[in-house]
Amino acid sequence: MSLAVLGATGSIGRSTLDVVARHADRFKLFALTAHRSAERLLELCRAHHPHYAVLSGIGADAALERRFAEAGSELLFGAPALDQVVAHDRCTAVMAGIVGAAGLASTLAAVRAGKRVLLANKEALVMAGSLVMQAARDSGALLLPVDSEHNAVFQCFSEKKSIRKIVLTASGGPFRQTSPEKLSGVTPEQACAHPNWVMGRKISVDSATMMNKGLEVIEARWLFDLAPEAIEVVIHPQSIVHSMVEYLDGSVIAQLSNPDMRVPAIKNLSFEEPDLARFPCLELAYAALRAGRSAPTLLNAANEIAVEAFLAGRLGFTGIARVIGETMDELPTGPVGALAEVLAADGKARATAAALVMAQAA
Ligand SMILES: NC(=O)c1ccc[n+]([C@@H]2O[C@H](COP(=O)([O-])OP(=O)(O)OC[C@H]3O[C@@H](n4cnc5c(N)ncnc54)[C@H](OP(=O)(O)O)[C@@H]3O)[C@@H](O)[C@H]2O)c1
Repeated sequence: MSLAVLGATGSIGRSTLDVVARHADRFKLFALTAHRSAERLLELCRAHHPHYAVLSGIGADAALERRFAEAGSELLFGAPALDQVVAHDRCTAVMAGIVGAAGLASTLAAVRAGKRVLLANKEALVMAGSLVMQAARDSGALLLPVDSEHNAVFQCFSEKKSIRKIVLTASGGPFRQTSPEKLSGVTPEQACAHPNWVMGRKISVDSATMMNKGLEVIEARWLFDLAPEAIEVVIHPQSIVHSMVEYLDGSVIAQLSNPDMRVPAIKNLSFEEPDLARFPCLELAYAALRAGRSAPTLLNAANEIAVEAFLAGRLGFTGIARVIGETMDELPTGPVGALAEVLAADGKARATAAALVMAQAA
């Protein structure tokens, strides 16, 4: 398999490279990409020798090009280079590991080119689920979910017509037991201290608000073609059951594994309903899924702006859900049949959410 790793310098990217290094007989690295982390990408190229390296957030720089060439990789610049490497004839598989809406165009380019797409960038399906799935049907691309919950469902899923519902498990994040009144004072460091995983900062905040689970519900809707009522979320603090599928005959198939190999044998499994007063973002995501059209695109964009403002200290933790809810109340939904429509809805929601963040700070 000749693999392009989009977002190679991130948490998903580094885990992917770790797996690749252990199975050098099965994977060849075709391309590694980062946005602006030139030095970290160069280090990865020295270790893994991909044919191409891409810095999507930097303009041409001859000195950098020379240093990458010395490491054996051809360096390309700018976002269009992402589409170019994923669609290349010699690339057979793509790890979509860019964070946020920025990953949509390259993920869609890989799907349109008919590649095997390992999907970590859930935001692509949240923003443009119908577009991406239609493109996969047209090109014959294979979409393999990397999110552990979806991968678990994928492994437990048999005949769709015999399925009653799927159950996505959630750890509940760092604030599972924090009273809702105390949430307004939490800091980015507290929000990023996930009890079970180490991940990028955006997804860590999404886990703390449970927007991550909301995005996963929308992702599951597209991956498994299910109605919102057939996708349930339960809190499972041990994160051992990755997800479950319930069949019409009442049987349940679950996929289990220890989140950390240092934890001894599986002893306790507990499940509880999410408290929507503590986690309003989950409710907002379900509302967007039910509303359809561009509502999930608006939700995703407002969330990215609000999370960025929270991480920069410009918005309180509870302001995240407020900004998303108000953005969605303010903007009408529209069609998302083409990429241009998706990007227009995304842009409008970003501008509205940014204005709401400013108003809250004033
Ligand atoms: N982390 C996990 O365990 C996990 C689990 C399941 C799903 N996911 C999903 O996987 C995706 C990646 O998450 P992560 O935690 O790995 O993120 P991360 O650690 O923040 O890494 C993000 C990667 O994307 C690149 N990037 C950032 N902005 C970009 C832009 N505008 N254009 C192109 N590339 C850009 C970064 O490059 P620079 O270094 O140059 O900024 C970096 O390589 C997310 O969609 C997340 O929801 C993550």
